[in-house]
Amino acid sequence: MDLTEKSRLFVLTGAGISAESGLATFRGSGGLWNGYRVEQVATPEAWEADPSLVWNFYSMRRRDALAAQPNAAHHALATLEQRMGDHFYLCTQNVDDLHERAGSLRVHHMHGSLFQSRCVDCNQPYADSACYESALPVCGKCGAAVRPHIVWFGEIPLDMEGIYHQLDRSSHLLVVGTSGSVYPAAGLVNIAAQRRIHTVYVGPEEPLNATAFDEILLGTATQVLPRLL
Ligand code: OAD
Ligand code: ZN
Repeated sequence: MDLTEKSRLFVLTGAGISAESGLATFRGSGGLWNGYRVEQVATPEAWEADPSLVWNFYSMRRRDALAAQPNAAHHALATLEQRMGDHFYLCTQNVDDLHERAGSLRVHHMHGSLFQSRCVDCNQPYADSACYESALPVCGKCGAAVRPHIVWFGEIPLDMEGIYHQLDRSSHLLVVGTSGSVYPAAGLVNIAAQRRIHTVYVGPEEPLNATAFDEILLGTATQVLPRLL
């Protein structure tokens, strides 16, 4: 990837980076959970219709994430950040906390975080790692419902402005383990290409937006990322 002291690296990760930690990818699991399509449980409409179904889904994902450990790919990115400091920026589509647990500091969760919730009325996110199988949480302040702090289908990813700002000042874009099927994340490579930012994809198969990349490094995240250091 040819990083020098002047380089600024923007990293975008997807479910594939956590696959070798044992967390299922969306497309890999057929996009299904208990017979439901993920799009059926991860939407505002699903929340309106059946909040306990939605909380059940995220409770399961909390349990899975708590049982998982960061892998060599998460650690490689944390090491790279230690070296590059604020020339490094990590934007993840993942809601797990494996990047943080590997030691990454500059992490933006554009699709929200599994271990945060927020009141549907007062909106303030707060830390929450409980599992809700029966009784659902309510806001201690106003009594309204509490929802996962997750960006659902049809909702706008968090801080797109900050993401575009970070991409603008980068010299390199490294994308790891994402199928290139969910926008706006999948479109970042096209913006980078217009700005002549060098773009690299890492994953075991070509993503849907493969033609937009300068380089494709085929292999799993733990095979390829430690080698890039
Ligand atoms: P996907 O499940 O769509 O894609 C996972 C990608 O990881 C695929 O391209 C795989 O080839 C790749 N992959 C599998 N194993 C890998 C490994 N060991 N190392 C590296 N790559 C590997 O997941 P995402 O692209 O992250 O959105 O999905 C994007 C968004 O769609 C998610 O953030 C989520 C989902 O619906 C929301 O929840 C809003
Ligand atoms: Zn409230």
